[in-house]
Amino acid sequence: MENQYIIKGGNPLHGEVVIGGAKNAALGILAAAIMTDETVTIDNLPNVRDINVLLTAIESIGATVKRLGPHEVQINGSTISDVTIDYDSIRKIRASYYLLGALLGKYKKAQVALPGGCDIGSRPIDQHLKGFRALGATVNIEYGMINTFADALMGNHIYLDVVSVGATINIMLASCMAQGRTVIENAAKEPHIVDVANFLNSMGANIKGAGTDKIRIDGVDRLHASEYSIIPDQIEAGTFMVAAAATKGDVLIRNVIPKHLEAISVKLIEIGAKVEEFDDAVRVSADDRLGHTQVKTLPYPGFPTDMQPQIATLLALSNGTSTVTESIFENRFKYVDELARMGANIKVEGNVAIIEGVTGLTGASITAPDLRAGAALVVAGLVADGFTTVDSIHFIERGYEDFDKKMTALGACMEKIPVDDERELQKFKMKVG
Ligand code: EPZ
Repeated sequence: MENQYIIKGGNPLHGEVVIGGAKNAALGILAAAIMTDETVTIDNLPNVRDINVLLTAIESIGATVKRLGPHEVQINGSTISDVTIDYDSIRKIRASYYLLGALLGKYKKAQVALPGGCDIGSRPIDQHLKGFRALGATVNIEYGMINTFADALMGNHIYLDVVSVGATINIMLASCMAQGRTVIENAAKEPHIVDVANFLNSMGANIKGAGTDKIRIDGVDRLHASEYSIIPDQIEAGTFMVAAAATKGDVLIRNVIPKHLEAISVKLIEIGAKVEEFDDAVRVSADDRLGHTQVKTLPYPGFPTDMQPQIATLLALSNGTSTVTESIFENRFKYVDELARMGANIKVEGNVAIIEGVTGLTGASITAPDLRAGAALVVAGLVADGFTTVDSIHFIERGYEDFDKKMTALGACMEKIPVDDERELQKFKMKVG
């Protein structure tokens, strides 16, 4: 049954929230975990839909997956009997394509359905395939499947034409047991790249330079057992930072790595919010209406594209004219029409959103177009006057664990109810007045 969020806006967020493990690190790490025949234990796993879908794909090829708790899993890849990932898995979660690099690296063969475009853009994977070919693999695309195999994988020098998180991770996976040295130039530098490399190294891989634009991978013969804890989610943390500022609240966001949040902190400070950094927490507060700025999304350490809808929502409520330029994906402004229905004044020209700040939003029935935009629309609902319903929250649940519960614990007036359940809707409205 499909659910929706019902929100009554107007409550400033106050208190503490604990951030979970990084979804996008976890996706690479789970795929990497099948590369050894020994048992791997992974902790601080976010309990979100994308992770659970990938675990099902991993089980579907015969690996043993044992859930030790909501945030801990044990994987044993010795029982793998199949190297084919079908379209159903890839359709539900694109990152199933990390199994291509992992299976190719381990078994020298893999077949994975070709992912299509998606809600945020066309998203080609040419750089992943270029990397596999450079390692000596044959890569054919037939009948909607990517079919790749090699007698042996040989290290090589690979220059990425675009900075790609996915290609960097997939090439690290494919090359960590190749013969000799692989060098990835123009590599992505996101925290999750470093986390996947650290995890592979904990299994015995020899990867140096992750977090810089040049990664060197010296192939090893085999990988072994490991116990590993995933880093905190930069984007979940950033979303709560923006929500605290947008509602003029005061929130301590715990279990974060403040360094990973710098691009977000700097923008919040620039527009007048207060951001305090601690060892593993940040505190964000705002008293007054915030100011305007220019934001451009860039690969890490630039401003993350996965925070673009959230910051645009905040700027839609700030004083003056702001611009938000999306330079990573071509179709990431689909939420703007929904925000406009709540009273925002935003014009999109090409890849730039020109935002004239308004003094308030009004509640409306809106639909989440994708994961991060969905989260941004919830933030809009928390600020808006009156009631907002957000549909298609399955997108939000792909990447945010207990989003509604964490917001409610901070004082938000919000509930998850079945879509079109008039009784539940009325009950909520009666309760909150
Ligand atoms: C990762 O996607 C994240 N997903 C995305 O998070 C995130 O938005 C994105 O990186 C950018 O930070 C995961 O980690 C699972 P890219 P990915 O390859 O790897 C182009 C979220 O909300 N490109 O870095 O697919 C591409 O079209 C999601 O959690 C090529 O041209 O992104 C884009 O313009 C959404 N050829 C740019 O590079 C390629 O072979 C960056 O994409 C690969 C990418």
